[in-house]
Amino acid sequence: MTIYRAQVLDTPGELGDPDALRADHDCALVVEDGVIVARTGLDAAVAGHPGHEVVDLRDGVLLPGLVDTHVHFPQIRVIGGLGMPLLEWLDQCALPEEERLAEATHAQAVAEDFLSSVVRSGTTSALVFGSHFPAAMDVLFTQAERIGLRMTSGLVVSDRLLPESLLVTPERALEAGRTLAGRWHGRGRLRYAVTPRFSLSASQEMLRSCGELLAAGAGTGPGDEGLWFTSHVNENPAEIAAVRELFPEARDYVDTYDRAGLLSSRAVLAHDVHPTEEELVILGERGAAVAHCPTSNFSLGSGLFPWRRHRDAGVPVALGTDVGAGAGFFLVAEGLQAYFGQRLLGAEGLDLRPSDLLHLATRSGAQVLGLAEEIGDLSVGRQFDAVLVRPQTGGTLEQVLPYARDAQDVVAKIFSLGSAADVAGVWIGGAPVG
Ligand code: GUN
Ligand code: ZN
Repeated sequence: MTIYRAQVLDTPGELGDPDALRADHDCALVVEDGVIVARTGLDAAVAGHPGHEVVDLRDGVLLPGLVDTHVHFPQIRVIGGLGMPLLEWLDQCALPEEERLAEATHAQAVAEDFLSSVVRSGTTSALVFGSHFPAAMDVLFTQAERIGLRMTSGLVVSDRLLPESLLVTPERALEAGRTLAGRWHGRGRLRYAVTPRFSLSASQEMLRSCGELLAAGAGTGPGDEGLWFTSHVNENPAEIAAVRELFPEARDYVDTYDRAGLLSSRAVLAHDVHPTEEELVILGERGAAVAHCPTSNFSLGSGLFPWRRHRDAGVPVALGTDVGAGAGFFLVAEGLQAYFGQRLLGAEGLDLRPSDLLHLATRSGAQVLGLAEEIGDLSVGRQFDAVLVRPQTGGTLEQVLPYARDAQDVVAKIFSLGSAADVAGVWIGGAPVG
């Protein structure tokens, strides 16, 4: 048992609640077997649990672990490919690198760099877009298990339009998915996500085989409701037009997934920058969520995310870094860019307060990934997944944080000035990582 003493900020309510921010200036979290069993003052914590170690974290701000709902494992080395829209960027930057993951030593090295960057950025849970190669997925799951990351991921499948080495038949995709899901889904903190790259590179038959895998996996994991589903949607106008041509029978892009039985509350689609109203209605009805990835949307010039329309349709939204189109692994930076994007939309944008940004990077992600009973805030009963933000010596954040007017301002300053270099500690399930 360990007692952590810290300034604790979290958002245990719903996004947009007026009193969303819970701020405890000097709080003691008692952690036993990775779970927060008491949240109280230090004296009460020590009296109730005498003789246990007290870890003093008051030189920083303790936040819930960050939750990244969209990040690509194979793409860490292509971060920084500026100057191209989506389809050119895929051809010139992402896909050539993804082909290299066929080679075992490359996949090992990339997985190591990827996972260490993820956790050193304060991310404790992630929905990770995988590799096209089963062996690279075994490497990723093996290393994630060793580190202790709460990770949902799966083999990326495609059967057209990509470089030949990234293609498989629907039958082989189903077989490989069955094997990998059987090996990894529900093992410790790992879960499996059925992952067609996007409808542009997945035929109707491939999407159907994904639906078959998803249906077969439902209810088979230990204590779990089934496999997850993730892909991309409505990111870029040229992509959307091409999908329309390739699926003349589908009503729209969302329908290409829906008609294959892929959408449910265990589905997370990245981007959705250009949805129709009908598509939003279907996503809302199915309970499917959207991963908003602002730095990627800005970098590729994909557009401004119509968040208010998602909210009005009841579509849950959380944040993703979308590395390598995104500009880095630090989810706090995505929160700031999400805020800027909504400002640019003027009256059509969502009004986001600092506490909303914290919610988006933590509890919203936990909700979207079906983990809100376990993680996302630092309440009693939750896992101790936490990140300590301690401003780097000599940095602007260190200079200005003591002058924060109130707790909202503390969050605003962290989101404005923070970087992964200010992450001084990360815990997952009570264990320090990174
Ligand atoms: N659509 C299909 N693949 C990708 C990808 O790797 N990154 C992004 N941003 N969009 C995609
Ligand atoms: Zn992506």
